[in-house]
Amino acid sequence: MIEEIKKLFDAAVKVRENSYSPYSKFKVGAALECESGEIYTGTNVENASFGATVCAERIAIFKAVSEGEKKFKRIVLVADTEKPPSPCGVCRQVMSEFNSELEIYMCNLKGDCKKVTLLEIFPEQFRL
Ligand code: THU
Repeated sequence: MIEEIKKLFDAAVKVRENSYSPYSKFKVGAALECESGEIYTGTNVENASFGATVCAERIAIFKAVSEGEKKFKRIVLVADTEKPPSPCGVCRQVMSEFNSELEIYMCNLKGDCKKVTLLEIFPEQFRL
């Protein structure tokens, strides 16, 4: 599977190095592919006021939206975990705003990836 997402995986691994995570020391990288073909990356940015921390996924999504993109195809997450890392609830909610069936590849640094859809891991989504 890693072959089909190699470009996104590499981008997520690279941006993960920019993680600002002095508190948790948990670095996360995300690479979001838009329907346009454009790729936006993000990494987690922590804050001394912990609640002000923003996850890698949301940074990537917000970067894309602020550049005028709203159609997202898939997102790859990378963290240094044994099992593939799963997106937090807030990020799932933000993803659901734009694509209720977003494809999510959860990968560790070794390249072990698990593919899910947002609908599978976040059913009965809240909408207005
Ligand atoms: N984190 C992410 O970047 N994405 C997630 O989906 C889960 C958590 C970050 C936030 C924080 O900087 C660190 O991981 C530990 O929670």
